Amino acid sequence: MRVGIATDHGGFALKQEILTRLKKAGHQITDFGAKELKSDDDYPDFVVPLARSVASGTVDRGIAICGSGVGAAVCANKIPGTRACLIHDHFSARQGVEDDDMNILCMGGRTIGPEVAWDLVETFLESVFSGADRHRRRLNKVALLEGGKA
Ligand code: RB5
Repeated sequence: MRVGIATDHGGFALKQEILTRLKKAGHQITDFGAKELKSDDDYPDFVVPLARSVASGTVDRGIAICGSGVGAAVCANKIPGTRACLIHDHFSARQGVEDDDMNILCMGGRTIGPEVAWDLVETFLESVFSGADRHRRRLNKVALLEGGKA
């Protein structure tokens, strides 16, 4: 799968860990940075290019990390076509894709460890949107908000 990943300084160490594992698992990775640890960098500078890439289909899924994952999620969801969520439990990593067609997984580098994070990433990437009518109906209502039509 084509997977994009982005972080600020708050998730830098976790991103490096996840990046290594994604490559080992055979995924095609686009690294949107940060490429080096700078304690005053800003998550929008890395998360926005990732979100644009997911929304345009240049990558299939995105992983966005910051210290808590909150800023990354708030930021990514400003880009139309992005469905990003802060996920720290296995159930939501799966159902967020199956029901809500989540396309960016956000995590906190300061709040979860690498093993839990990797389980979330694997679960997120393995899951598939169900396409059920009721979920499409709900997502269509959400999509209308992006154009200011609802
Ligand atoms: C940066 O210190 C921190 O605020 C950021 O990584 C993130 O946690 C924001 O939500």
